[in-house]
Amino acid sequence: MKKYFVAPSVLSANYLILKDELTAITTAGAEWIHFDVMDGDFVPNLTFGPKILADISSYSDLHLDCHLMVKIKNNSVESYLKPFIAAGASSVTLHYEALTPAQLTEFLALRTKLKIKIGLAIKPATPLTVILPYFEQLDLVLIMTVEPGFGGQKFLPEAAKKIKELRTYLDQHQYSTLIEVDGGINEQTGLICKKYGVDVLVAGSYLFGHPDLQARLQGLLADETN
Ligand code: DX5
Ligand code: ZN
Repeated sequence: MKKYFVAPSVLSANYLILKDELTAITTAGAEWIHFDVMDGDFVPNLTFGPKILADISSYSDLHLDCHLMVKIKNNSVESYLKPFIAAGASSVTLHYEALTPAQLTEFLALRTKLKIKIGLAIKPATPLTVILPYFEQLDLVLIMTVEPGFGGQKFLPEAAKKIKELRTYLDQHQYSTLIEVDGGINEQTGLICKKYGVDVLVAGSYLFGHPDLQARLQGLLADETN
């Protein structure tokens, strides 16, 4: 049986009852929480910063998976990320497309320097080849199956095919990098991603606000690929 992780995206939670939402996903079996940081620049939407992350971290022991859809300006990558790490981030993922070559080099070095788990995310149109040189330094790769910026969008099957190629590559090289998928995940699209070899499934609008959240989450966790 393959072990999957489901990372409910708090972007789709009801913040008036965030504590209840966190309890519900934990009871339902989630081991990760996905936290989308958007800057209104790299993506056309604004979300939250380290304060909300710290509040979530003070209440929850789950893996806090921070997906930063941001351009870093007037700041080193280290000083930009430090407040998120101090707030309890378990892993930090930046977008390949948002980083200058110098920022990418600095980011990769932070894994050892700050002893943190790091990931690189790629948008649907970005080929896998651009991140292939960095696998030894990455804890996870986040494959976007929608254009980043908003929850509730439709899954892009072409983008998901990268999971399959990446699984083959990682297995051939015996890298333990996790493959995470984000955007439009539900029962059907989740199954496609599991067949392709994903490890972590992010799901927002499919989970939050549904009375059968537990059954939905358990369905995503199930290994039905055989
Ligand atoms: C979109 C975000 C996703 C979003 C997914 O840019 O990165 O994490 O919350 O939402 P759903 O699961 O509704 O597509
Ligand atoms: Zn995300």
